[in-house]
Amino acid sequence: MTSPSQQIMRLGFGFAASQALRVIIELGIPDLLVTGKRSVIELAAATQSNSEALYRVMRLLAAEGVFSEVSPRHFELTDLGAALRCDRPGPRDFIHMINSEAYLAFEQLLHSVRSGKPAFDKVFGSPRFDWLSEHPEQAALFQRAMVALSQGSNEAVAEAYDFRPFTRVVDLGGGHGQLLSEILKRNPHLDGVLFDLPSGVAAAQQGAGGALPRTDFVAGDFFESVPAGDLYVLKKVIHDWDDERSEAILRNCRKAMPSNGKVLLAETLVPPGDQPSQIKYVDVVMLAVTGGLERTEAQYASLFAAAGLKLNRVIPTQGPISIIEASAA
Ligand SMILES: C[S@@+](CC[C@H](N)C(=O)[O-])C[C@H]1O[C@@H](n2cnc3c(N)ncnc32)[C@H](O)[C@@H]1O
Repeated sequence: MTSPSQQIMRLGFGFAASQALRVIIELGIPDLLVTGKRSVIELAAATQSNSEALYRVMRLLAAEGVFSEVSPRHFELTDLGAALRCDRPGPRDFIHMINSEAYLAFEQLLHSVRSGKPAFDKVFGSPRFDWLSEHPEQAALFQRAMVALSQGSNEAVAEAYDFRPFTRVVDLGGGHGQLLSEILKRNPHLDGVLFDLPSGVAAAQQGAGGALPRTDFVAGDFFESVPAGDLYVLKKVIHDWDDERSEAILRNCRKAMPSNGKVLLAETLVPPGDQPSQIKYVDVVMLAVTGGLERTEAQYASLFAAAGLKLNRVIPTQGPISIIEASAA
């Protein structure tokens, strides 16, 4: 049995495992092990790395079950490590992304806790999405990470809601377009609008999230205005923003939609109490990186009310994400 002090130390070492994962992803180690076991000397040669240093990082990750050291200094991929292969849609881009700028911002988490403001802005000199707009490579990685993070949830949202009453669905902050693609696939009567910053629209136009027939691609700023439509879908968008900014986006939806229009937020609700949940990690990442937050149902209800909308119902999906539906108040 590990003592409380050993357990807490393990938690405190989380950063080391996190960065070690990023390193082996950047070096492409999981892909080099797809064909079977390899020596660390071969892996170091293939990745222009120092074999002794690479060995130490792989030994740490083997202790966490990512690799298996099947004979001295020879590693195989485990099922856990295989989730990082580049041919598996999954967490590799997300782990890479979160351990880049977000990681650096996290070093200043105390600033966020003292001020309530995103540490990212202090460390990088501009807000997260402004910074991404000026760093296309990181913006592309961000969009790939969103695809990875979205696995399964787009289908779950598209399945769980009845889109028949609507004609024109606007996916605000739709990024790579995976959700809109799933909605349009199931609802041939619908037209779509993919609305995002130029980097998001570019990813969607290049087909990052699948086919987008009957779609207008619109680059813009949802704090300024939003395109007309009778259904607004915002998946993992409102969680990026504090209440004031979120209200501004929702007020723009309210202004642009007809009286029978609806707004759907697709978000993961924060569970009550001490229940372990990944969303509690995402929430603190939002605090430090974008200044956003994860919310409870009651918090979404008051956000809608402040924007002239009312929360109608929360629709569960097959996954952890819920659909929070609102109409004009
Ligand atoms: C967390 S991502 C979610 C993307 C996508 N909806 C998904 O579920 O994967 C937030 C999206 O909002 C977009 N965004 C951020 N600021 C924006 C703005 N001012 N106007 C329009 N889109 C914006 C980002 O480019 C990004 O694609």
